[in-house]
Amino acid sequence: MHKNYAETYQAWKDDRAGYWAEAARAIDWFTQPVEIFDADQGVYGRWFPDAFGNTCHNCVDRHVEAGRGDQAALIYDSPVTGRKARYSYAELLAQVNAMAAVLVDHDVAKGDRVILYMPMIPEAIFAMLACARIGAIHSVVFGGFAASELAARIDDSTAKLVVSASCGIEPNRVIAYKPLLDAAIGLAKHKPDHCLVLQRPELSADLVAGRDVDLGEALDTARTAGRTVSCASLAATDPLYILYTSGTTGQPKGVIRDNGGHMVALAWSMRALYGVAPGEVYWAASDIGWVVGHSYIVYGPLLNGSTTVLYEGKPVGTPDAGAFWRVVEEYKVSVLFTAPTAFRAIRKEDPEGVLVKRRDLSSLRALFLAGERADPETIRWAESVLGVPVIDHWWQTETGWAIVGNPLGLDPLPVKHGSPTVPMPGYELHVLDDAGHEVPAGTLGNIAIKLPLPPGCLPTFWNADERFRATCLSEFPGYYKTADAGYLDEDGYVFVMARTDDIINVAGHRLSTGAMEEVCASHPDVAECAVIGVADALKGQVPAGFLVLKSGVSRESSLVEQEVVTLVRERIGPVAAFKTVLCVKRLPKTRSGKILRGTMQKIADREDWKMPATIDDPAVLDEIAGALSTRRIG
Ligand code: COA
Ligand code: AMP
Repeated sequence: MHKNYAETYQAWKDDRAGYWAEAARAIDWFTQPVEIFDADQGVYGRWFPDAFGNTCHNCVDRHVEAGRGDQAALIYDSPVTGRKARYSYAELLAQVNAMAAVLVDHDVAKGDRVILYMPMIPEAIFAMLACARIGAIHSVVFGGFAASELAARIDDSTAKLVVSASCGIEPNRVIAYKPLLDAAIGLAKHKPDHCLVLQRPELSADLVAGRDVDLGEALDTARTAGRTVSCASLAATDPLYILYTSGTTGQPKGVIRDNGGHMVALAWSMRALYGVAPGEVYWAASDIGWVVGHSYIVYGPLLNGSTTVLYEGKPVGTPDAGAFWRVVEEYKVSVLFTAPTAFRAIRKEDPEGVLVKRRDLSSLRALFLAGERADPETIRWAESVLGVPVIDHWWQTETGWAIVGNPLGLDPLPVKHGSPTVPMPGYELHVLDDAGHEVPAGTLGNIAIKLPLPPGCLPTFWNADERFRATCLSEFPGYYKTADAGYLDEDGYVFVMARTDDIINVAGHRLSTGAMEEVCASHPDVAECAVIGVADALKGQVPAGFLVLKSGVSRESSLVEQEVVTLVRERIGPVAAFKTVLCVKRLPKTRSGKILRGTMQKIADREDWKMPATIDDPAVLDEIAGALSTRRIG
């Protein structure tokens, strides 16, 4: 491996295919790649088109065969239930074999889609790896989503089977998953054949005869019988998973991840970006429902032969703001990865870092942050209490791994607060104006990635090549549009400032204000509406809705506001944190009828704002400003 960042990036620029051919040697293929990239396949080309292998083999079997059988692969720590468990690589293999046997017994085969609607429990990881083992395509749905979001994913993926659990556990309540799953299947046009449901001790679920299966019992039987299922030989280009993420409409986009490019990119990132060796403990304090969880709770650390931590708890309240430090000390975590919002939550409760000092954190080498913009204040605080490098890195569900970061495993660059540092090999970034022309250093513009995207990034959306082209590739021909705005400085450091579409980031969770508007507009009393993201000291952003009621509606506007809040919680889920709604007489619009969301956001954030020249009626913005001066949001 090249010693420093500049040499490494240059080596990639000099021989782009050769660079990834070399990186691909870290993978144990069934058929070695000969062709590295074929520009004629897929939407913009495909990586390793002639190679065959298996992600589960590389995450599990391979390490057992290489003598790591007794090493911890997975540590489960659940402060919300009081349970802890440790699985060696050999035990993980046995668990995954049992899960794969149960899937096969229910007729799941290569290419079938399996929805995983699971809390943060080991069985969720066994199920992901079992799908990977047999070539089924998993699609994990985050537990905080409502039944209709789950239904949309069942329909889009036409899932053959759902794997779920009776409940998830939030600090303040037990979330019954099964009624949500039953409601989702009721709503979905496509009906899965079976639901495998793990009964957790905290809550038992009613099973539907003929359709539902007690997963715990099925796994026990398979384990007792010592069932094994061999790893399918899959094309590197076969899908490993689909992960749905917010788009600009209510219909989520199914980001596809392939097997080969994903293994190569994640294996590279574990060593070069995170600087983690096999056998070391790596902890991504995220959720398997998000891309961070897929890449760095499950696949990355296991591909690397490291130990991963699955933490079913929160940064605060389970039981206190010292929870992360307890886990780091107890398992000797080398590298921690989380979202800045978690650190803002910890800092709010323990501003002096008293709970940090009570623990031995000598194993910790670095903290990585991603998921939302890392505000310099949070970074400075984390640096001062932890005394280790705090590394911001920028990426998206679509890319699956960091676009921009600071490679700790090479020779890291000096940190500039507010910048996730520099592009990783594979990513050639350009900052473009709206007409597609490159802008000078220091000028804000659209951050675009020159095609092809590197290994590990999405090849397309599930069953939606045209949508992929239209959303990501058409605006700037030859580039992938990140939909993030930012700039490059004179040293080539990247600064990511804001989204250019209607996506907002709430406590590190990616949400679409467009989807929330669709729900608000469905209320019978609402004539029109706008949802914007406003700044929030803890969550980064929270949504705020503005409603114009239909003429003739005589009910109290506060009643409608409450009903709309409930509607969004029911249709999108509690994770939207949609709690603020304001009825207004009119929405501010341009003369061509576009709602002036940007200006509304500035007013709500108490920023300086100018009356837009294109406004239709300036009085409307004054009304909004007046309404917001009496109702603080965010
Ligand atoms: N299942 C069901 N409900 C869930 C859920 C899940 N898996 N996760 C969250 N929710 C619910 C919460 O209970 C809460 O409901 P409420 O409105 O009834 O209180 C709502 O969704 C919002 O949850 P959350 O975003 O977790 O906010 P919070 O106020 O409970 O906690 C933080 C704030 C900052 C502690 C928390 O958001 C956090 O840990 N964030 C880190 C996020 C992260 O890791 N992101 C991944 C990117 S790296
Ligand atoms: P997700 O797909 O949920 O990972 O969200 C991706 C989006 O989160 C990006 O497009 C950015 O808008 C934002 N984001 C993620 N990481 C960062 C970061 N380090 N700095 C700024 N924004 C970020």
